[in-house]
Amino acid sequence: MKRIGILTGGGDAPGLNAAIRAVVKTSLGIYGNQVFGIRRGFEGLLAENGVFPLDYEAIRGILPRGGTILGAASRGNPFAIQVQEGGQTVTRDASDEVVDRIHELGLDMIVAVGGDGTLAIARELIKKGAPFVGIPKTIDNDVCGTDMTIGYDTAVGMATDALDRLHTTAESHHRAMVLELMGRYAGYIALMSGVAGGADVILIPEIPFRYEVVFQKIRARVEQGTHFSLLAVSEGAQPEGGERIYQDVQVEGQPKLGGVGEQVAQHIQEQCGVEARATVLGHLQRGGSPTPYDRWLASQFGALAAQLAHQGRSGRMVALRNGQVTDIDIVDSQGKARQVPLDDHGLGTARSLGICLGDRYQAHRELEE
Ligand code: F6P
Repeated sequence: MKRIGILTGGGDAPGLNAAIRAVVKTSLGIYGNQVFGIRRGFEGLLAENGVFPLDYEAIRGILPRGGTILGAASRGNPFAIQVQEGGQTVTRDASDEVVDRIHELGLDMIVAVGGDGTLAIARELIKKGAPFVGIPKTIDNDVCGTDMTIGYDTAVGMATDALDRLHTTAESHHRAMVLELMGRYAGYIALMSGVAGGADVILIPEIPFRYEVVFQKIRARVEQGTHFSLLAVSEGAQPEGGERIYQDVQVEGQPKLGGVGEQVAQHIQEQCGVEARATVLGHLQRGGSPTPYDRWLASQFGALAAQLAHQGRSGRMVALRNGQVTDIDIVDSQGKARQVPLDDHGLGTARSLGICLGDRYQAHRELEE
């Protein structure tokens, strides 16, 4: 009987509980292994009572629940933990303690469910002799090596619903309604929800936008008698030659994005004479019950991870490639966050539909008629 640990690191995402459930059910029911939950990401490996047995009772009813029953920590990097020493906060490397603790607990494998940060930590701990299998999750869909991550589909659903709701106000009040969406440096959420929600303008980090092009699109709509516009804007979108907009907050030494939506709305109001409003969808994209697709993907990822864990195949990450669930070397998830490729079919589709991506003005036939 093997002892399998499981942790969820980084921000929460809908579908984490479905993945935990699949790991537990497969490990217990198929392989007869034991599963231990690790609380609050890697932190649980350093905390008292941070590791506890996960049985059927513990996972009952969690499939449709958002969040994670294990808790998550955005600030849990064992290579740089923050501790209080002499009244001051200092950073220290606790990675060796984590590796020792894993051996002490007799864990044969840890399934790490996380985004690029969590997977990077797992890769470093593997080098120190700790066994890990990875499951990619993040609403941003920006993990290299997989076509999709757990949580993305639910976030897109939420964003699309928000666009549908903003559409009615835009139309009734003759306004430009701007929706700022999460995704960090990847535009997947804005692109997919923008197309699905009928946005007129989609601005993503991969394509630096020109304000004049956006204004042209909105003015053209007004000239054609359509006095409202809907804009889906990634938090990481930036104007050509301009800067990304950050909040005055740092998470793990990284500045937090936010504010571009408000700026875009203000400029539209000033330059196009159209009343504009910005909405920041924020963490609503990360909450709530996972969609059937996220539950389906998370269940498949979890079941395969449990199999890999049983087989002792440390250093693997489950992934979706060309519609198939498979596993890859966890090293292949390394590197710069995945972004929407410029030859992406979705971008082409957006252009075909006359959606302005902010890089070049496209007079759409519909507007010319
Ligand atoms: O990576 C997921 C994500 O939701 C990003 O889209 C967003 O930029 C960030 O996390 C928000 O982080 P926090 O929860 O720390 O505000």
